[in-house]
Order: sequence, then C-alpha cells, then structure tokens
Amino acid sequence: MVFQTDWLQILADCKNNVKERMAPYFKKLGQPQPDLGIGAGGDPIKQVDLAAEKAIVDTLKEHEISFTLISEESGFKEFGKKASQCYVTTDPIDGTTNLMRGVPFYATSIAVSSELTISTVYAALVTDLFHGTTYTALKGRGAYRDGRGITPSKTVSLEEAVIGLDLNTYKVKKIAPRLTNLIQRTKHIRHFGANALEMCYVADGTTDAFVDIRGKLRATDIAAACLIVQEAGGKITTSEGKPLDVKLDPQQKAEFVAAGNAGIHRTILSLIKPEKEAE
Ligand code: IPD
Ligand code: CA
Repeated sequence: MVFQTDWLQILADCKNNVKERMAPYFKKLGQPQPDLGIGAGGDPIKQVDLAAEKAIVDTLKEHEISFTLISEESGFKEFGKKASQCYVTTDPIDGTTNLMRGVPFYATSIAVSSELTISTVYAALVTDLFHGTTYTALKGRGAYRDGRGITPSKTVSLEEAVIGLDLNTYKVKKIAPRLTNLIQRTKHIRHFGANALEMCYVADGTTDAFVDIRGKLRATDIAAACLIVQEAGGKITTSEGKPLDVKLDPQQKAEFVAAGNAGIHRTILSLIKPEKEAE
C-alpha cells in the first residue's frame, strides 16, 4: 500500500494535542465530573471526552484533511469538501472510568480507513495517556511501540499465559458460563479497564491474549487496536473463529478473541463454549 499522506506524523500530532488539552483535567481527577448528555456510543459524555475529541478534529483540520469522523462521543460528522475520501474512527478516551477514578490506565484511539469497515483501516494509533507509550501501525508495514517494531508472544501454554478477560457486563450469567473452561485452565487472568490498550498489550507480548465476548464493546473502541494486533503478527477473530469485520459505527458492537499467536488462539477458541451450549 502506498501512503500519500504521512498518517503516522498526523496521528502523532493528534496525540500530542490531546495530551496538551487534557492537562487541565488531570488536576480535577477524583472530583465528580458532570455528565454532558449521552454520546453516540450510548455512554454518558464527560468534558474530558469532548476535549480529547476536539483536539483530534482540530489537528486534522490544521493538516487540511477532509474526513468523516466516527466518534464514540459525536457520532458521524463530515469535515472538508471530500469528507468521504477517508474515515477517522476514534474513541477519544478509552477507559474514562479509570481516568475519573485516578486509575492510571486510559488511552486515546484513532483509526483511519478507506471505507466504513474495520478491515479497511490502514493507519492506527493507540496512546497510553498516563504512561506516554504509543502504539502505531500502518497496513502492510508492521506495528510499533514508541517507534520500535513489536511482535506478540509465542506462549501457547495457558499455564504460563496472562490472559485479559472482560466480564464487565450485567449479562454475566449468560457470558460467564461460556468462559468457565478457559478460566479453569488459565493461571493468570487480568482486566485493566481500557480495552484498546489491552489489545495493544497483546500486540507487544505484554499479555498473551485478550478475550471480550460480551458483544458489548463498540467498534470505535477496537478499530485502531485491531490493526495494531494484526500488523504485529497476532491473530484476532470472533469467538467462532470468523474474520472480524464489523461496520465502523459507534453503535456497532463486536465480540472477539485477540491472541499473540495461532496456537494459543486455537486453544482459547476450543475452550469457549458456543452460546447455545452454555444456556
Ligand atoms: C470501556 C473500556 C472498558 C470496557 C468497556 C468500555 P470507555 O471504554 O474499554 O475496559 O469494559 O466496555 O466501554 O467507555 O471508557 O471508552
Ligand atoms: Ca470512550
């Protein structure tokens, strides 16, 4: 793929602008923040979410990019004369609850695609806003952490693996039974509370897999991290092993298994019970 626009530079500028504009909010951490209505993704909007989204939009405008924005907060918005030339899907803050509570794990996620599907994402950035670590990927050109190439883990044993598992759902009685075999066999289970960043942990081998089969996570949360996992060499599919190709829309939900390698991915899929069997 030939890139006529230096997307890595533009996404880095977006990230820097988000960090700069968020600085005042760090002083308010731990204080109650008013909700500013409900975002396009269905969750309450906080000031900090809007400030991060505006930082991204303003940066793209400064670079004179025409684009359609797909944001967890504002939904679809067109900018410039050729708004359909590219689509910018963002979750301005992934892990807002962590940020509000002072848990140091939250991120900004931005994906650029040629169409409104996750398989057409060609440039991606996820940045850990607390630690300052940034993950990027360009389609066909690999994935990077702070500019250095990354590869996922080769671990296939569930005894040794660290596996992220999101069970954050009121429908836990429906979801948990599908996962008991996997939990039973896995020694180290984690959930940190910002799924885009947790997928990047799979991409760079910090963890070995991340499983979210709730059917609740928005496409806007995973658009960038999905390319980062794939470009690093990891594997991501639905829990049935089908290719993950969801529409880029804040209301579109996804369920998936992301893993460092095909071996552990296969094992995890074999342990997840299909919906009907778990009933
Ligand atoms: C949330 C985080 C969290 C996951 C939630 C997401 P948000 O993102 O990724 O880990 O359990 O389902 O909504 O709402 O902070 O952007
Ligand atoms: Ca968010």
